[in-house]
Amino acid sequence: MTTTLATAPEGLTRLRLRQEATRVLLTNWTGNSTVPSHTLYPHQWSWDSAFIAIGLRHLSPRRAQRELETLLGAQWADGRIPHIVFNPAVRPDAYFPGPDFWRSSTSGRAAGAPAWAETSGIVQPPVHALAAALVHESDPETSRRRGFLERLYPRLTAWHDYLLHERDLTGRGLVCVVHPWEPGMDNSPCWDGPLHRIVPAPGSSFSRVDLVHGEQAERPTDLDYGRYVRLAADYRDHGYQDTGTPHPFVVEDPGFNALLIASEHALADIAEALDRDPQQHHERADALTESLLRHLWQPEAGMFLCRDGHTDTVIEERSVTGLLPLIIPSLPSQVAAALQHTARGPHFGLGSTTVLAPSYDLQGTAFDAYRYWRGPAWFNTNWLLERGLRHHGGQTHALRERLLDAAGTSNFAEYVDPRTGQGRGTPHFSWTAAVVLDLLARLQDGEEPR
Ligand code: SER
Repeated sequence: MTTTLATAPEGLTRLRLRQEATRVLLTNWTGNSTVPSHTLYPHQWSWDSAFIAIGLRHLSPRRAQRELETLLGAQWADGRIPHIVFNPAVRPDAYFPGPDFWRSSTSGRAAGAPAWAETSGIVQPPVHALAAALVHESDPETSRRRGFLERLYPRLTAWHDYLLHERDLTGRGLVCVVHPWEPGMDNSPCWDGPLHRIVPAPGSSFSRVDLVHGEQAERPTDLDYGRYVRLAADYRDHGYQDTGTPHPFVVEDPGFNALLIASEHALADIAEALDRDPQQHHERADALTESLLRHLWQPEAGMFLCRDGHTDTVIEERSVTGLLPLIIPSLPSQVAAALQHTARGPHFGLGSTTVLAPSYDLQGTAFDAYRYWRGPAWFNTNWLLERGLRHHGGQTHALRERLLDAAGTSNFAEYVDPRTGQGRGTPHFSWTAAVVLDLLARLQDGEEPR
C-alpha cells in the first residue's frame, strides 16, 4: 500500500486519517452491520449502510457485502427496504421511535414485513444498487465466489419495483416520499409547507431520545417531531399499505429520484456482470430521467426543486437535494453545467463562501448553519456532489481535500457548519468515516476509479 503523507491543517496526515476512519468503522461494527452512531442511532439505517458499504469495501470487501446482505435480509415481501432494521440486542427504549412503535412484524404483516425481524415501515433513498456495484468491483473474485450479486440482484430489482409501482403516487413517473424521514433530510425547510397541514401528535404521547444524545439547537423541533410521529403512526395504522393509506404528505424529491436513477444504471452493470440483459434497467433509468427533467427541473432556479404532490405545486426552497441529479451519468450537459454553476453560486457557495455544500440555501430565510438538514453540510451529499461534478467534467480536487480536512478536524462529525467546517451533531459518525476511506482510496490509486 502506498501512502500519501500530505498534511491536513491540524497536522493529521492522510495515513493517520485513514487509521482514524478505520477505527470509527471498526468501533461501529456490531457483527453483522454498522450503526451510524452508537449513541444517537444504535441500529442499522438503510441509506447509511449503503454509504458505509462504499467505504467499508476498502477495509474488507467481505464485510461490506455483509453490511448490505444484513440490510436486505430484512427486506419486506413487497420489496421495500425499511429505513431502520432494529438490533434485538439493543434496549428497545434506546431509540425513539423504536420497535414497539413501528411494530412491523404485526402491523406490517399484510404488506410483507418479515416475522423474524423488527424494522421501521418507511424507506430511505435507494443508494443500495450503486453501493452493491461498487462493493462488487472492489473484489470481484470474492464477490463471485460468495454469489454476492447473484443473491442481491433479485432483491435490489424488487426494491426498485416497489418504489416504481407502489410509490408513483402522483402518476408522473416519479417516486414519491410519504414521510420527511424518507428522503433522509428530515427537517429540510422543503418539508415545512407540506408538513404544515399535518396535525402533530401530542408531545405527551411520546418521549424523544435523540435529545439525550444531541444538542436541542441542532435537532428538529418538538413540533416537527409531533408531525413525524403522526405521519408514521397513521401509516402503521393502515398496515403500511400504500394503497389505502391517505398519505397526507406526498412529495416528489429530486435527490431520491436521482439516486434511484443512478442505482438503475448500477443494476444494469450488475445484470451485465451476471450475464443477464441490462436493457430493462437502462429503460427505467431513461424514463425516470425524462420525468425528473420534465417535472422537477426549474431552469430559472438553475436547479431541481421538490414538488408537493397534494397541491401539485413547486416547493420554492433550494435544498442540496436539487443538486444531487448531478450523479446521473446521462444528465443533459446544459443541465449539468447549470447545476455546477448553482453549486458554486451564492446559494451554496461551494469553493467560495462555503467549505462544503450546505444542505440548504445560504440565502434562504430558514437557513440555520447548526440545525440538522436546515443548513449544515453533510459528508454523504458532498461525496455525491464530488462524484457528480467529476463525472460531468468539473474540477473536484479542492472539494475532495476540503471533505477530508473537515472530516479529520471535526472527528468524523455527523455534519459541519458549511462556512467554517466546524463539527456539529454526533462525532465518530459512520458514513463520514466511510466517505473518507473512499476518497483516500481514490488518491492512493492515482485517482479516478469508480
Ligand atoms: N433521521 C431520523 C432520526 O433522527 C430518523 O431516521 O432519528
